Amino acid sequence: MTHYIKGFPQSEADEDLKFVNVDELEERAKEVMPEGAYYYVASGSEYEWTWRNNTNAFNHYQIVPRALTGMDNPSTETEFLGMKLKTPIMISPIACHGISHADAEVATQKGAALAGAMFTSSTYGNKPVEEIAAAAPDAPRMFQLYLSKNWDFNQMVFDAVKAAGYKAILLTVDALVSGYREANLRTDFAFPVPLDFFTRFQGAKGEGQTVAQMYASSAQNIGPDDIKRIKEMSGLPVIVKGVNCAEDVEVALTAGADGVYVTNHGGREIDGAPATIDVLPEVVEAVNGRCPVIFDGGVRRGS
Ligand code: LAC
Repeated sequence: MTHYIKGFPQSEADEDLKFVNVDELEERAKEVMPEGAYYYVASGSEYEWTWRNNTNAFNHYQIVPRALTGMDNPSTETEFLGMKLKTPIMISPIACHGISHADAEVATQKGAALAGAMFTSSTYGNKPVEEIAAAAPDAPRMFQLYLSKNWDFNQMVFDAVKAAGYKAILLTVDALVSGYREANLRTDFAFPVPLDFFTRFQGAKGEGQTVAQMYASSAQNIGPDDIKRIKEMSGLPVIVKGVNCAEDVEVALTAGADGVYVTNHGGREIDGAPATIDVLPEVVEAVNGRCPVIFDGGVRRGS
């Protein structure tokens, strides 16, 4: 197996390393990933208040044990838009897995399938969606869309993900321009591994681009008409990713969205935005059972 990151994993023995929680995995990543790559993944915008608060806000919630239910063998199995899941866990879309491992999204998809979790591919993924799908043909998967200003690009993406068995589009509205990410500026971060959809569309330009350059090609003004158009053009359900308040729930559902996704883009965009766990109740109440709700931000454990 070849690795883009020299020495990652460091040795055969490293493959046997055991991590009992994601914090340990994060510490290990810091040791073996190049600085720019590590901080691209593990940082937020400006003061990183929202980035930290996504996790810290969980401290304000408690789990009250409920025991005397008479329930035997509780199950984590669930269904999402008709897809059967062994757990209600989804790998949130993240760009450029190739900065962490040579097998990029193919490896993540395999891991997600082994764990019975849903995988989501990013528009800024390195591996072709066909290859990712082939790594776990029967596993459930969805696709995160950065809507392009160029609708030929969008159509190319819709056709490819539909053919590869992706079951829904997660339309990103939480990151329309890049947040001011000081860690990326400090390391002059640019995507070091080609991003497949950009390579397909415009040749070799998916490599060596900064995050700000990538955002410049995506749409900044997304509204109800876009939701309708994406549904029509893709023939897939559309889930609006980046809903944090009751008002946006109404706009999304009125436009025909099939789900909403509570996220602040991992605290990488508007610093000062509330922790997602704190806005989840408002969104769920506004949805009132009308569609499924996805949640991310600060999740570190199954509890
Ligand atoms: C980011 C984008 C690419 O947050 O999702 O870097």
